[in-house]
Amino acid sequence: MIKLSKIMVGIGVTMILVSPFASAEITLRNTITGETLDMSFAKKGGDTDAFKQFMKDGKNPYNGKKDIEEKGKSLYMTGCSGCHGHEAEGKLGPGLADDYWTYPRNGTDIGLFETLFGGANGMMGPQYVNFNTDEMLQIMAFLRSIYTGDKSKAEWLKQ
Ligand code: HEC
Repeated sequence: MIKLSKIMVGIGVTMILVSPFASAEITLRNTITGETLDMSFAKKGGDTDAFKQFMKDGKNPYNGKKDIEEKGKSLYMTGCSGCHGHEAEGKLGPGLADDYWTYPRNGTDIGLFETLFGGANGMMGPQYVNFNTDEMLQIMAFLRSIYTGDKSKAEWLKQ
């Protein structure tokens, strides 16, 4: 019996090691509650190579990629500009292109992704309803590209 239970544990460990989530090295948390984000809410189609890379090192591989920034811009105009302004200058929601953050963690790519995916307070609902995870990275790349703040405060460049 002891041997059998050892085998069972062995199988369990092997399953964990080969599961697709084994490569994930970052933990995503809700901006407000700090609870681990439930990625099962994610829309289909977002589990791209870029997103997999992001889940490993927490850096947005799309930053600085002009063609992606253009796509991100058009997604931003559809889903975010109504509340945050066309140049992310702030409207109903705060400005997203300057160096002041209500939640300082948004200065990092992990933090910004967490706020997009899981939302924040009030009108800032979880964006997984509207965008898949790859699209969120595209929007993030656009926002970083129109940054007007102090370069020394651009935390995502230091990651
Ligand atoms: C219905 C209006 C609305 C929409 C749509 C919306 N937001 Fe927001 N957003 C808000 C409000 C209001 C806040 C402030 C919430 C808070 O302080 O907790 C906010 C906060 C944020 C923050 C935190 C800013 C900080 O200073 O820390 C980020 C980042 C953000 N929104 C990004 C986005 C992006 C990107 C989109 C589109 C994918 C989006 N929001 C769509 C209303 C909206």
